Parts: sequence; C-alpha cells; structure tokens
Amino acid sequence: MNFTIALSALLACWIISFYITKSVFSAVAWAPHDLLSLLINAVIGFCIFGVGIAIVGKFFRRREHYFLDDMLEALKRISQGDFRVNLEWEFGRNNEQQRHPYVQLVDSINSMAANLKEMEELRQEFISNVSHEIGSPLTSISGFAKALKNDKLDVEQRQRYLTIIETECFRLSKLSDNLLKLAVLDSERQPFHPTTYRLDKQLVSLILACEPQWEEKKIEMSVEADELEISADEDLMSQVWLNLIHNGIKFTPESGKITISLSRTEEHAVVCIADTGPGIDEQDYTRIFERFYKADKSRVRAVGGSGLGLSIAHKIMELHRGSIAVQSKLGEGTEFTVSLPLRLDRAEA
Ligand SMILES: Nc1ncnc2c1ncn2[C@@H]1O[C@H](COP(=O)(O)OP(=O)(O)OP(=O)(O)O)[C@@H](O)[C@H]1O
Ligand SMILES: [Mg+2]
Repeated sequence: MNFTIALSALLACWIISFYITKSVFSAVAWAPHDLLSLLINAVIGFCIFGVGIAIVGKFFRRREHYFLDDMLEALKRISQGDFRVNLEWEFGRNNEQQRHPYVQLVDSINSMAANLKEMEELRQEFISNVSHEIGSPLTSISGFAKALKNDKLDVEQRQRYLTIIETECFRLSKLSDNLLKLAVLDSERQPFHPTTYRLDKQLVSLILACEPQWEEKKIEMSVEADELEISADEDLMSQVWLNLIHNGIKFTPESGKITISLSRTEEHAVVCIADTGPGIDEQDYTRIFERFYKADKSRVRAVGGSGLGLSIAHKIMELHRGSIAVQSKLGEGTEFTVSLPLRLDRAEA
C-alpha cells in the first residue's frame, strides 16, 4: 500500500517536472537532445519528490510529537494518582496499524489506567469498610464507659455494661487479627509449608475444640470422616475449617444440627459442612466470599461478625489450588463444600 502511494507520488513528480522543463525549454528556445531532456526531467522529478517527502514528513513528525506529548502528560497524571486517562489513537486502526508500537503503547496506557482506577476504588471501599467496622464498636465502648461513670448504677447494670464493653473489645481484636491475616495472605510474605498429615484427625480435633460453643447452643454435631492423608499447610487449613465451623455454630439456631463429612475423589479431598441455619439467598453465593460482605445484615449484627471469615478461607483455598463453594436453601440450611488437592508441594504452589 505504502509502496503504491510512493510510486504514484514519484510518477506525479515526474509529470510535473516534464511540464516545467517543457515550458522552460520553449521559453528559452532550447531543444536539448532527448536523452539529456530525459535526465533533466528525472533529476528535477526526484528533487520535487524529495522536497514533498520532507514537507509531509515534517507534518507527520509534528503530529507524532504532539501525540508523544499527550502520552507523557497521561503518564504524568497517572503517576500523580489521576487515573481518568483515556488516550485516543487518531491515525486509524486497520489491521496493520493495530500492530504499530504506538497503538500498542496507547492500549497499554489505557488498560493500565483502568486497572489502577479499579484498584484505587477497591482500596477506598476497603478503607471505608474498615473505618465503619472500627467505628461502631468504638462508639459503643465510649458510650458505655461514659455511662459507667454514673455512681448511681446498680451492680447488675454495671456488669451488663462491662460485658458489652468486653464483647466490643473482643470484636475489635478479632477484626484486627483477621485484617492482619488477610494482609499477610495478600503479600508475598505468607509462609506456606505443606506437610503430609491426617485430615480426618485435624477435623475431629477442631470440632472437639469448638465443643463448648456447640454444646452451649445444644447443637447436634455429626462427623463422618474416614482416614485420609493429604499434603497441605496444616495451620492455614485449620483456619479454613474453623471459619466454616464457627459460621455453622453462629448461624444455626439452638437445637439445630451440623454435619461434617469427609470423602475423597481420585485427586481431591472433599469436605462438606452442612447446617440447619437460616440459609443464604442464591444471589449472595459469590458475594459472601468478598471482604466485609454480610448476606443478612440484621442477623449478622445480632450474632456478630465483620464479614472477613469466608474471604480468608477463599484466599487460603486459592493458595492450595483448591475450591470452596456454597449451596443453600433459605429457611432450611447451608452447605459449604471444600475441595482440596490430595498432594501439593511448594513448587506447585
Ligand atoms: N453457615 C451460614 N449460614 C448462613 N449464612 C452464612 C453462613 N456462613 C456465612 N454466612 C453469610 O455469609 C456472610 C459472610 O461470612 P463470613 O464468615 O465471611 O463473615 P462473618 O461470619 O459475618 O464475620 P467473621 O467471619 O469475620 O467473624 C455472613 O455474614 C453471613 O451473612
Ligand atoms: Mg465468619
């Protein structure tokens, strides 16, 4: 295409040169030999072509220069935290131009700005969630501490206020623990030490460790776990089981039932934790794994929780190349299914 344009331009220059020389020769009444006339035509034609190229080239260089300025300006804005950048490539986008380095640079800058904008929005949402989660217990603590200054309070009221302060402090400390866990899981600093251990034993010992909580609510706990050895990070996996068991206990009403079963497929260990709690709406199935998401806010306010447990479990399953999914029926109960590769070593992770 470019070659055809150049050839046509060269031909046009020769034609112009032919008419110029013809009119000059007739003006000075000189009739040179045909070969000399042809040479003069060719030289003048090339000169016109050269001058034309220089002028057009300068024009394009100036446009490219302006465009480079636009790109530099966009990068400067991004570096200053302004991600509302959307560069337009104004020189066409056919298949050949699509591969032009400038076009690729423009696309990369635009997608970098879009990604950074999304990350910034997530960061701001995270900060506002953290502030909210810290703000409400602090308000409650300061309110009840103030009330405790009243000398006329009887012992019973005093005890009640102190219990509320204690609960809110526990909530704050759990929130800070969970935030720290997430920060470490997100960073490269997360130590990951897969060892080979008995998953059935781990589940049984965690269920026994939670006995005071499920006993208190008279929950019937049923466990079916045959001997199964897996290779995974034992500490991180206990975190996953604890978060799921605690949710089960927390959301299941008194005298309900929690069933924990362990089975295996060819390459995976599959753990199902089912309860007879209030259930989760289908539209919340994926959202409950997001940070700070609470499916039923009024119920969560009553039982406590900051919406981080499942996102921690999800992150740990990602590290193990496993999966965690939920199935539920409103009013009947919820079942979480965790699928974990039987063998995992550091190189794979
Ligand atoms: N077994 C369950 N039954 C009913 N709803 C549940 C169950 N497990 C989780 N959910 C819903 O999913 C939401 C997210 O759970 P997640 O464990 O992440 O947070 P949380 O339990 O509210 O707080 P945290 O775990 O940080 O103490 C809960 O707020 C609740 O609405
Ligand atoms: Mg939880």
